[in-house]
Amino acid sequence: MSIRFDGRVAIVTGAGNGLGRCHAISLAERGAKVVVNDLGGARDGSGGSSDAAKAVVAEIEAAGGEAIANGANVADMEQVQAMVDEAREKWGRVDILVNNAGVLRDKSFSKVEIDDFDFVLDVHLMGSVNCSKAVWPLMREQGYGRIAMTTSSSGMYGNFGQTNYGAAKMGVIGLMNTLVLEGAKYGIKVNALSPCAATRMTEDIIPENLLGLLTPESVTPALLFIVSDDAPNRTIITAGAGTFARTIVYETGGKWLPEEDQTPEKIAENWAEISDAASQMEYTSGNDQTQNMLTKAATGLGIKL
Ligand SMILES: NC(=O)c1ccc[n+]([C@@H]2O[C@H](COP(=O)([O-])OP(=O)(O)OC[C@H]3O[C@@H](n4cnc5c(N)ncnc54)[C@H](O)[C@@H]3O)[C@@H](O)[C@H]2O)c1
Repeated sequence: MSIRFDGRVAIVTGAGNGLGRCHAISLAERGAKVVVNDLGGARDGSGGSSDAAKAVVAEIEAAGGEAIANGANVADMEQVQAMVDEAREKWGRVDILVNNAGVLRDKSFSKVEIDDFDFVLDVHLMGSVNCSKAVWPLMREQGYGRIAMTTSSSGMYGNFGQTNYGAAKMGVIGLMNTLVLEGAKYGIKVNALSPCAATRMTEDIIPENLLGLLTPESVTPALLFIVSDDAPNRTIITAGAGTFARTIVYETGGKWLPEEDQTPEKIAENWAEISDAASQMEYTSGNDQTQNMLTKAATGLGIKL
């Protein structure tokens, strides 16, 4: 089975460098027409020029593909809307959105400024919100859409000095979870990529002798999979150095306590059973959790369901 994107139009944000560049080139190689978006700033978001995006477009065209460069700042809704309008005018549709653009402003929580928080959240979280919001009506109209968020192990597990980045990267998972529910009847699937690659974003974090293994090319196949026609839905795929895995949020089934036992002391006493992973479940909406609570309470109280 060959995964192709012929006839599909894709927007890849932050595609002037690193992972985004590799995603854009690979989508184009497999037939997609690609909007190569990049603000072209430095790693901390300062500066800006569309040279990087233009260079990627030139590469795609030289290989026989179709692409346009776009310099929108994903944190600016007006610029994002104009980018989506341009894609629609040129190619009539937008099938795939890859929310990849990112910046870092790492500092320990005691030193990080609120401005550093606002800035990082604006690019990663609001950038993903803006781009998803701008393509959403079009994808609904088409009855087809694939959106990829870019999350991070820093969000899911934490990383020293990255409270702002980690919060933003978990934020896009929250965005994904509800978009999945709202997009289901319109053929829209939303997934997330959790990459690990040696790019300018990680150059001073990973030991030099291992950097060579962490190529963007070893990550991009996971991105292609989650934006393909037969993509899964609501899936977080991790990719790095050729290892692909799935991240899943589970919740234990828990233990119901009768009213007289609904105390912090009884919770402490029952903690092993409450947190027993043997009963864990993967929920696909917030309502699943409520159902579990009410089912357990009704069973405990002898109420017929
Ligand atoms: N490299 C990794 O190991 C790693 C790990 C986890 C998550 N990520 C995520 O993957 C994505 C790509 O990271 P990368 O390592 O390729 O970084 P990178 O710095 O090489 O590329 C990010 C690109 O985003 C662009 N950009 C920044 N702000 C923008 C804005 N406001 N509007 C449009 N473009 C903007 C930059 O100009 C840059 O070209 C990011 O979301 C990052 O957080 C990377």
